Amino acid sequence: ETQPFLLERRPRPPYVPGKISDPDYVRIFDTTLRDGEQSPGATLTSSEKLDIARKLAQLGVDIIEAGFPIASPDDFNAVKQIADIVGNEVFDDGYVPVICGLSRANPKDIETAWNAVKGAKLPRVHTFIATSPIHMEAKLNKTPDEVVEIAVNAVKFAKSLGCNDIEFSPEDAGRSDPEFLYRILSEVIQAGATTLNIPDTTGWNMPWEFGELIKNLRENVQGAENVVFSTHCQNDLGLATANSLAGALNGARQLECTINGIGERAGNASLEEVVMALALKGATKFQGGPGTGKLYTAINSVYITPASKMVAEYTGMACQPHKAIVGANAFQHESGIHQDGMIKNKSTYEIMTPESIGLMRGDSQSGAGIVLGKHSGRNAVGTRLRELGYDLDADKLNAIFTRFKQVAERKKGGLEDDDLEALVSDQMGRSD
Ligand code: KIV
Repeated sequence: ETQPFLLERRPRPPYVPGKISDPDYVRIFDTTLRDGEQSPGATLTSSEKLDIARKLAQLGVDIIEAGFPIASPDDFNAVKQIADIVGNEVFDDGYVPVICGLSRANPKDIETAWNAVKGAKLPRVHTFIATSPIHMEAKLNKTPDEVVEIAVNAVKFAKSLGCNDIEFSPEDAGRSDPEFLYRILSEVIQAGATTLNIPDTTGWNMPWEFGELIKNLRENVQGAENVVFSTHCQNDLGLATANSLAGALNGARQLECTINGIGERAGNASLEEVVMALALKGATKFQGGPGTGKLYTAINSVYITPASKMVAEYTGMACQPHKAIVGANAFQHESGIHQDGMIKNKSTYEIMTPESIGLMRGDSQSGAGIVLGKHSGRNAVGTRLRELGYDLDADKLNAIFTRFKQVAERKKGGLEDDDLEALVSDQMGRSD
């Protein structure tokens, strides 16, 4: 299929906690500043966090998880600043992002999170407690009954502070007993939770298992129709994006993710992968869950590259070159067969345009285009030489191409325009 140069955007439904007026709409919850910052070595300053929060709002993410306010006074201040500033700005399509703070399920954490976010126009508190047998026994040393009580009290406490947008996560849901999840989630809905986030905390689930979990929760949790189900998939088996999409296919309407997929251990679901998969295939391949199955987000994909670059620079965590969507090689073509196809029609080897993610083709710094290296063919070399202004006959092109192959064998990273021009002068010198 040929993809449009820039992707079409559909209007974002109004934000209401716990409800989405269009059942095909998928909220994007970005946790770069919380789970992402938990990547070892990815510490950010308050001003860097504010810059990233603005970039996320430009991108159009519905909810920004700005941090974990109880973690330190710095974290509290950074979340508060984001809530007070970005949480009151009106962006692009007239929307204001929800600003969320994470808290464990105890009054002190919750009050601190609420105090940090309450200055935002749309504040949210996200509270969590672990529900898997291993976490309840080994980490919390609590019985399942005690865990239910703590969770219910936490949600009620957040509500008593005046917060009407409360997200609850049963940590390690991916390894929890589904029957226990039905019970605890039914009770937190009664207590006032509006979003139920289902974390596959250890990246343990296969996509079909995680999809089934979301479907079963929607069918068995009492009051499920009054809340939004969400995914939070870690990437320990490299399945975070696939699991998030399986969640959406089965009715999750909030997906948690991070720019460049940064996060604890092997990272989190990558925002750019989840969003582009939904943008390119959401309208045709997701016939599950509520609505017509023509899923969409309100992300303005042209801001993906600037957001990715900013996060890589500020965290010091560069993307691997072959990272999907934002890696340096994601729009590079080296083999002769691929380059020949690209010259004839770009859709032969690209399923999206680089421009649709804010990468400009033709800018040699951009990483979009043809790399002239040892696998390149005559057509690609001849095309670039013509673009540089050389009108060469077949014999001269053949001779230059032979030299090109010899040089390219030894030159890592491919030949630049200067190298090609040197080959032309060399050839002209020989034939004079
Ligand atoms: O991975 C996890 O379980 C979390 C929760 C707090 C959502 O980060």
